[in-house]
Amino acid sequence: MITIKSEREIDLMRESGALVAMVLDMLQLEIKPGMTTKQLDSMAEEFIRDHHSVPSFLNYVPKSDPGVTPYPATLCVSINEEVVHGVPSAKRIVNEGDIVSIDCGVYKGGYHGDAARTFVLGVIDEKVQKLVDATEESLARGIAMAVVGNRLHDISSAIEDYARSFGFSVIENMVGHGIGSELHEDPAVPNYGRKNTGVRLREGMTLAIEPMIALGKSRKAVSRRGGWVAVTEDGKPAAHFEHTIVVRSGKAEILTGTFLGIKHI
Ligand code: MF3
Ligand code: CO
Repeated sequence: MITIKSEREIDLMRESGALVAMVLDMLQLEIKPGMTTKQLDSMAEEFIRDHHSVPSFLNYVPKSDPGVTPYPATLCVSINEEVVHGVPSAKRIVNEGDIVSIDCGVYKGGYHGDAARTFVLGVIDEKVQKLVDATEESLARGIAMAVVGNRLHDISSAIEDYARSFGFSVIENMVGHGIGSELHEDPAVPNYGRKNTGVRLREGMTLAIEPMIALGKSRKAVSRRGGWVAVTEDGKPAAHFEHTIVVRSGKAEILTGTFLGIKHI
């Protein structure tokens, strides 16, 4: 069931969303080659708790897979061929030339916010830079479709068409989602699909839109040995951007937008 949020609920989601944005802004300013992914995670957790809030991902168990080990961290930090759900570790160092996707969720006042950005460390391959830029722009194009009167897959097809226009591949087995008092609510928001299909978008629907786009041919992110991290099948890099948004008429409202003023989303 897709829930429509009241303006009072959206006010609360604006606060969780702002905290997510602040965490990602802080990490964007702090991340340096040589840091461990655990250091990034500790900074994020401390910031969230200092603001009387709770990391959404910590101890998360998917409803669809109740047997899985609860997610053990505040952030997902996924490097290069890791698409999503990289578990922070004191043994994992981020290096010059890496692309590092950081995903963060905050629970505050009964509501979640969820967002991700891919950071580039130092000088990287031109093709990989193009992948990161195109993934970010695909999110912007998806968000532009999240308006009253459109259908759900108008978001999906805008993302897919843009990513494929560069020959990049869309990860199909991981999707965006509704969000609110639960981290994952209906509907699933795929990053591929046919225009003019799917449910009609209504004012007050809150969605986490999150394209995961890969450089190679992989259309799936796969986990190995029962671990959380999901990687591309061919080992090629993938990028990931995510925002929590509210469907509005005319223009979607982004709840997890940066405060740095140096990015358009
Ligand atoms: N943004 C991701 C998602 O919505 C992060 C989830 S991490 C998890 O699936 F630990 F909560 F699964
Ligand atoms: Co999400």
